[in-house]
Amino acid sequence: MKQITAIINGKPTLAVCGITLSELIGGEKPCGGHGKCGKCKVFAKGTLSALTDAERKHLTADELARGIRLACLTYALGECEIEALTERADTQIVTDGALPQIELNPAFSQYGVAIDIGTTTLAARLYDMKGKPLAETSCLNPQQEWGADVISRIEAALAGKSKDLAKAIRKALDEILAELATKADIDTNSIDGVVITGNTVMLSLLTEESVEPFSHAPFDAKRLFGETLTARELELTSLKPDTAVYLPPCISAFVGADTTCAILATELTEKNEPAMLADIGTNGEMALWSNETLTVCSTAAGPAFEGVGISMGMRGANGAIDRVTVKDGSLHAHVIGDVEPRGICGSGLIDAVACMLDQEILDESGFLEDEPFEIKAPVTLTQKDIRMLQLAKSAISAGLLTLIQNEQLTPTDISALYIAGGFGNYLNMQSAGRIGLLPHEMIDRTKSVGNAALSGAVMLLLDRRMRDDAQLLVKNSCAVDLSANPIFIDAYTEGMLFDE
Ligand code: FES
Repeated sequence: MKQITAIINGKPTLAVCGITLSELIGGEKPCGGHGKCGKCKVFAKGTLSALTDAERKHLTADELARGIRLACLTYALGECEIEALTERADTQIVTDGALPQIELNPAFSQYGVAIDIGTTTLAARLYDMKGKPLAETSCLNPQQEWGADVISRIEAALAGKSKDLAKAIRKALDEILAELATKADIDTNSIDGVVITGNTVMLSLLTEESVEPFSHAPFDAKRLFGETLTARELELTSLKPDTAVYLPPCISAFVGADTTCAILATELTEKNEPAMLADIGTNGEMALWSNETLTVCSTAAGPAFEGVGISMGMRGANGAIDRVTVKDGSLHAHVIGDVEPRGICGSGLIDAVACMLDQEILDESGFLEDEPFEIKAPVTLTQKDIRMLQLAKSAISAGLLTLIQNEQLTPTDISALYIAGGFGNYLNMQSAGRIGLLPHEMIDRTKSVGNAALSGAVMLLLDRRMRDDAQLLVKNSCAVDLSANPIFIDAYTEGMLFDE
């Protein structure tokens, strides 16, 4: 039987010619794969069977143009690439986050929704007038079609795709709003107040604001939001056209409204002692509150923590090694979903490297004598994977240390470090300290706070007066530019090592 190579979610796989995309990529088949429900959509390109009438019926012209197919009806007939469109049921998305006590002063009169547009995932929650959460949902950001990180989205927008990027995110928002309404058994028309947070690039792509300033120094964003638009202006068709949609203020081009919201949710600027916040992802956004001053910075960590660029890396979904420990002198790996391992996600990678250091499989410089090293068959790590992690972890630790030293402080002066975002939820703090991703002196005071960006958006939804606090916070903050900062450059170089 003829064999073909199919690239599934970025991974080359050998397959039998003539297999359906459903069989290749898995996922749900609500109608059993009979082409009736139209729910098994995937991105696919390459040598595939011809479009069927059922696909023409279920897919819009826009979807067809974007290369979307129904997986159960499409056959792989040669080299092809397939990407899951949504992994709602599979990928772990964190929507929880601590919410401080607030006074109710809702920015809506029937139902309100808070949404966080992350570069990778969207998370949303619906509330009633009493501040009671009625429904919650999340999904992957559909803009991933144009690239996993903000830089590739900026490039796509500059290459003339800004309308497509805006359309994709607006459609996802409409779907999320409809899903929340269905779950709570209300009409979307009764949602009359929405807060949408996100990083500066995500909000710019949503509003079709030019992303040109993000593509070159001095990276001065023209529009930093902190404004109320209508659903009509944002072309959100699931809501009544005059529904107010508040976009919280961003601090700078690379420290967005999601960080503003996370600062509100962690009450960082209420602390009497120096305290820090870090959101670790493809970009690391960090903030330090000390002496009534808020300083922030952003550093490019690359996609290693999301499992991208790692030879057997993957997202935190079924089949991913997410935890590694040492038992009786050998490595033990935990796999999400208790299935055969398919790859390793960011938290598993950090654990694995911490264990390899403890077992002296890796030395302080990151040298791996026997490569590839097997974590749990068939998942291995290569020398290049270790180097990718060194670059990523050193970007984060150097950012934190720069903010600390910039205020003439040391890590021992910091009373608390809050780690926001989904990644922090799965991160083993001891491993993060062992590999030097976070300063080890701060590990005992480090706390994961979940999706603090969404929590902050909820606060802005349930107490409209907090919008003034958000504006003030942004006005009084100071962004530190790391690109030519000598403290950062030194800390980055030193941070490449794995110190004891
Ligand atoms: S599973 Fe229903 S259309 Fe493919």
